[in-house]
Amino acid sequence: MNITIFGSGYVGLVTAACFAEVGNHVVCVDVDARKVATLQSGKCPFYEPGLDGLLTSGIEAGRLRFTTDAADAVRHGTYQLIAVGTPPGEDGSADLQYVLQVARTIAAHLDDYRVIINKSTVPVGTADKVRSAVSEVLAQRGVSQDYDVVSNPEFLKEGAAVGDFRKPDRIIVGADTDRPAELMRSLYEPFNRNHDRVLLMDVRSAELTKYAANAMLATKISFMNEVANIAERVGADVELVRRGMGSDPRIGFHFIYPGCGYGGSCFPKDVKALAHLARETGFAPRLLDSVEAVNHDQKRFLHAKMRAHFGSLAGRTIALWGLAFKPNTDDMREAPSRELMEAIWADGGAVRAYDPVAMEETRKIYGDRPDLTLVESAEEACEGADALALVTEWKPFQSPNFELIASLLKEKVLFDGRNLYNPETLRDLGFRHYAIGRAARVAV
Ligand code: UDX
Repeated sequence: MNITIFGSGYVGLVTAACFAEVGNHVVCVDVDARKVATLQSGKCPFYEPGLDGLLTSGIEAGRLRFTTDAADAVRHGTYQLIAVGTPPGEDGSADLQYVLQVARTIAAHLDDYRVIINKSTVPVGTADKVRSAVSEVLAQRGVSQDYDVVSNPEFLKEGAAVGDFRKPDRIIVGADTDRPAELMRSLYEPFNRNHDRVLLMDVRSAELTKYAANAMLATKISFMNEVANIAERVGADVELVRRGMGSDPRIGFHFIYPGCGYGGSCFPKDVKALAHLARETGFAPRLLDSVEAVNHDQKRFLHAKMRAHFGSLAGRTIALWGLAFKPNTDDMREAPSRELMEAIWADGGAVRAYDPVAMEETRKIYGDRPDLTLVESAEEACEGADALALVTEWKPFQSPNFELIASLLKEKVLFDGRNLYNPETLRDLGFRHYAIGRAARVAV
């Protein structure tokens, strides 16, 4: 099958590489000529396990190519996927300008039946806007041409995106008629062999499913962070509470890990966008606003503990382990590490940071500044620092040599933003261990 994908970002590239892998011919269009050249040489502009290899093999097999030529791209694919960004506006609403621009571009070159597939995360009603944008351009051209618009939201997790695409939990297809629905079934056939994972629904329900799923996951996290804050005050250990709660299959163990807040390109943006969408209909979304507010405060948790411990952070240096918003990615969007570093700097403190892959990304964001030292190893971050803070639970941070760490730090203080470490072990080594909601265990 011939597939065209607009937007060579995260979703676009993973989708392109995985469709090419199963034998399709995929063309990716991007307006950024430099990015297109980099991709055509087989280099992925961000870190995602397994993606580099898939891109290279797709290109070498002649099944994947990158272009800035929209006319060529619209001619190529029966399937025209839109996978461009929908950044949040000031009021939390999703900015649809890039999605609608792609819709107009497709319409400008449309001269045969095409199914236009919206993969970007968009508010309910976007498919209608895409349809209007396409019709308008076709009318200006004086052309009458059949096409369909479907919603096909993406549920990839960064760091595990290739696996998620190859083995999806579900393939949501929002289509209002049979023809595009059947075409979508054929498109996903290779990923739908053993169990039928296609859930066919109307377009609006598909659009809402994506927002609702992300908002539900974010809600679970904020709920647990609230429980952790209560646990701390009543002298309980949230890690025991979590296990006790999770063993009820109606609750489950996934996404109930308390921490220093959720980040990333999806949860913060989608919770706000869903709340905004609700308000636009005249409905006040009380739960969604609270999910966001709890997360906002949780991202300040470690900083509050640091202030309480040191009194003032002026002149203090904090060793920071983990910069990416979660392990296995170099994505720093809405990362809790950023809030923490910025708060330390605002107090006159400094940071020595290490992350297995997000150092370059951090350099791009903050440049050279005297209060940020990016170092080559987790141990080096601790050299001469007043305390250690763990923000991202990367595997290499899971079993450190605490005796060595203790000898490198000025004070044996550890702020554990992901409840990664055993409070008893640290206590035996003489550490002051601040964790999330573990008052019962971390007290010295
Ligand atoms: C998420 C959704 O999982 C995915 O389905 C959707 O397509 C995009 O958004 P992603 O942003 O890649 O994926 O990361 P995810 O693994 O879901 O983690 C999001 C954030 O929640 C991270 O900051 C993580 O640290 C945090 N988190 C996750 C917790 O704090 N506790 C948990 O129990 C789980």
